[in-house]
Amino acid sequence: MRSPAGPILVIGRNGQLALSIAALGRPDTNCVGRPEADLADPAKLAELIARMKPRLVLNAGGFTKVDPAESQTEEAFILNRDGPAHLARLCAAADIPLIHVSTDCVFDGRKQTSYAPDDVPQPLSAYGRSKRAGEEAVAVNCRKHLVVRVSWVFSEHADNFVRTMLRLAGQRDAVLVVSDQIGYPTYCPDLAAGLLAMADQVLAPGFDEWGTYHLAGREEIDRASMAEAIFAQSRAMGGPSAQVMPVLTRDFPTPADRPLNARLDSGKAAEVFGLRLPDWRAGLQKSVRVLVAEKN
Ligand SMILES: NC(=O)c1ccc[n+]([C@@H]2O[C@H](COP(=O)([O-])OP(=O)(O)OC[C@H]3O[C@@H](n4cnc5c(N)ncnc54)[C@H](OP(=O)(O)O)[C@@H]3O)[C@@H](O)[C@H]2O)c1
Repeated sequence: MRSPAGPILVIGRNGQLALSIAALGRPDTNCVGRPEADLADPAKLAELIARMKPRLVLNAGGFTKVDPAESQTEEAFILNRDGPAHLARLCAAADIPLIHVSTDCVFDGRKQTSYAPDDVPQPLSAYGRSKRAGEEAVAVNCRKHLVVRVSWVFSEHADNFVRTMLRLAGQRDAVLVVSDQIGYPTYCPDLAAGLLAMADQVLAPGFDEWGTYHLAGREEIDRASMAEAIFAQSRAMGGPSAQVMPVLTRDFPTPADRPLNARLDSGKAAEVFGLRLPDWRAGLQKSVRVLVAEKN
């Protein structure tokens, strides 16, 4: 069934990551969203893989809404655990690799330094538990897999922290933003390019470094400071801006708990794949420029 000429099949079309992969314009990638690629429909997934005969599958889809996952937990597990499990079985049967994207939310954030891929997961939320279950399902069902955890992803595409902050700044003078959650922001087009570079290396003869990786930006920041950076860029471009009112997470309750420390150490990806994502601040500037221009 494996065809060296087949495309890299990306599950997802309208999401931030799928759009960023598509925007790279590589003719050998094919981003397929619903209804043709539905993680809740194993028969559709099987049909798609049989028809397309991809040389690799990259799963950029899932139930990604962290707070709603607390009340829509069954749906989150169907998309984040069962769908990846089906994909993994299909990939194993076709003898093609599966790259599955996961999250920092598999960790509890209590570690004082950045998280390495082999640190013990301890999710705080239903979303995190569903994503962790997906990681395990992929590993159990498909030997030729990469689980790539990503974090604090932003871009000019789809919904993300930058778009939310600019929308709020258009509606009010001040916004409350947590100041005790820290992470490594990651510009989605850089992440997309990194994932395709991983895919290319995985497909090279002799690759055998299957397992879990982290791929994230390098410079840490807290959410409130990131909001300030967004507004500073926006102001400079004539876009909306608001005063950032820093709050502690414990004073800003949300349905799902998030790790206070979301920093993912990408050292293993650098060692094995030679990958280092560019400075995310350049990506922030581009995202803000595009989003501000869209509004004008
Ligand atoms: N954004 C972040 O900060 C962040 C952080 C950590 C991890 N991640 C992970 O990164 C990956 C990509 O996230 P994202 O930011 O691109 O999310 P997103 O913008 O919310 O997009 C969600 C994607 O999931 C797809 N999807 C939803 N329901 C589906 C279903 N039933 N079957 C198949 N696909 C379905 C959507 O497909 P359609 O194209 O059909 O609409 C869309 O492409 C996810 O695994 C997410 O958990 C993201």
